Amino acid sequence: MKILGIETSCDETAAAVVEDGTRILSNVVASQIEIHARYGGIVPEVASRQHMLSIVPVIKKAITEAKTPWQDLDGIAVTFGPGLAGSLLVGVNVAKAIALSQNLPFTGINHLEAHIYANWLNKENPPSFPCLCLIISGGHSELVLMKGHGQFEKLGRTRDDAAGEALDKAARILELGYPGGPIIEKEANLGKPCLQFPRAWLKGSHDFSFSGLKTALWHFVQKNQVLGNSSLVADVAASFQEAVIDVLVTKTINAAGELLVKQILLGGGVASNKFLTHRFLHSSSVPVTVPPPYLCTDNAAMVAACGYYHFQNGNLSSYNLDVVPSLSLG
Ligand code: KG4
Ligand code: ZN
Repeated sequence: MKILGIETSCDETAAAVVEDGTRILSNVVASQIEIHARYGGIVPEVASRQHMLSIVPVIKKAITEAKTPWQDLDGIAVTFGPGLAGSLLVGVNVAKAIALSQNLPFTGINHLEAHIYANWLNKENPPSFPCLCLIISGGHSELVLMKGHGQFEKLGRTRDDAAGEALDKAARILELGYPGGPIIEKEANLGKPCLQFPRAWLKGSHDFSFSGLKTALWHFVQKNQVLGNSSLVADVAASFQEAVIDVLVTKTINAAGELLVKQILLGGGVASNKFLTHRFLHSSSVPVTVPPPYLCTDNAAMVAACGYYHFQNGNLSSYNLDVVPSLSLG
């Protein structure tokens, strides 16, 4: 079964063709990072206009690279939330137009669920249930129990900033640029995590919180003339990143132990951080699966993989599918 995936929830215009939920036939991503970097973050109006310009060429490229004529497609999967309303609308409306013109079924996909399904791509042995999923991106930090395909139970989420958002803001405070996650990781390679930043453990809860850490960084930078001192900036970046990772890894591994899951699945842009994956792989007794970096950040292959299981379960959408910017999972 060949599914065309479409993803426009944030600042990546993406289309992909995936066979049987695992084999990637094409995976095209047009990133808007350079356009938004000059503003220090995503400008929603600019993002939706850019999706309008890119979506048709991106889909055409995905179809060509997959060597799959339209008549060989079995369905379309499109992200309908969570995300920026104006951006989601572009993908959903294009998906409906193609579905109508090519007489194909289509299914609306939750972007958070799609991040989890990146773990099914290019895999001979799919993950075993029950799994504990940690989705860490620019907008979300969610801990979700997955008991089977489409069966999710939310355990915890961030009470304020998402993990990626905290890293993005830290990079901004340190005047390092956007997006912050990869830049902080690069700086951390040059420094040592020798400074103590606070960790919000929120004992008894699976929730996360990163805004206190961000405030602590702000005060540290004000008091210690960090900016301009490159070795101190590297140590601050390494220590801040360590504080974020410490909480994410420790709380997830503890929850995996409590819930007796068979596997931990990671997903979302922050899961491409090598310090985080190294720490997970070395400290968890439960097997940990992480997609390669290009499948952790936003892409449409994960949307198509997720769509395959929706189609298998007969979970189709109708033409009155609307975007849901604040959609949650579980
Ligand atoms: O999943 P994603 O591409 O988009 C959303 O759904 O939000 O995640 C983007 C987030 C950004 O906050 C970015 O700074 C972070 O992922 N990120 C990273 C790394 N690469 C991207 N964070 C830490 N380390 C990285 N290598
Ligand atoms: Zn994402």
